[in-house]
Amino acid sequence: MDALVVAVDGPSGSGKSSVSRGVARTHGLRYLDTGAMYRAVTWWMLENGVDPADPAAIAARAEEPVLDVSTDPDAVGIAVGGLDVSGPIRGAEVTAAVSAVSAVPEVRGRLVALQRQIIGVGGIVVEGRDIGTVVAPGAPVKVYLTASAQARAVRRSAELPGTVNVDLTKAEMERRDRHDSTRKADPLAKAEDAIEIDTTAMTLDEVVARVVGLVNDLVDVR
Ligand code: DC
Repeated sequence: MDALVVAVDGPSGSGKSSVSRGVARTHGLRYLDTGAMYRAVTWWMLENGVDPADPAAIAARAEEPVLDVSTDPDAVGIAVGGLDVSGPIRGAEVTAAVSAVSAVPEVRGRLVALQRQIIGVGGIVVEGRDIGTVVAPGAPVKVYLTASAQARAVRRSAELPGTVNVDLTKAEMERRDRHDSTRKADPLAKAEDAIEIDTTAMTLDEVVARVVGLVNDLVDVR
């Protein structure tokens, strides 16, 4: 279990965060939310007046933001330059800009290296878009979560504060997924050896149980 890496990829709203945290808790593993890292860098760029639509400007400052990420599934959080940005990185401004910032190869190069450093020898569940394909291609357990666009939009809307228009959330989510899947650098993709789970008609507990089962099968075989 100490050396285990569980890679969880999929589009937004597919349940990656809740499932990954549930699996980490069940198995006593650490948890890494790589999307929060891309969001934190995006927050820093906006805060420092760097235009998210200018890849050269983003690339020039990609090394600057200093990230501090928690890997405790019961105390998730992220700081940039010592400032807790866990709240602001979920805001509409960051969400609208994060696909453009995360498509810049210099940003990816830096964050992938940091992610591999945090993963270290293992003992961790890692969620993102390119974990099974790029960050940890040797991970012994890889899952790719999907769900219908409608189900994903309903879930995402429920996570946001206040009253949220599901159709608008769906349009924004589909725009981001298109961008994330078609970018040149490390696009959202299912690893060939990943197990795809369509979570549309499943409860969170059912999905967690399925992934926990995959981990148990692996440990049994060993
Ligand atoms: O999982 P999330 O919605 O918080 O991710 C925010 C964005 O970060 C997502 O639209 C694309 C990017 N991302 C990425 O490019 N690679 C990852 N491993 C994780 C997220």
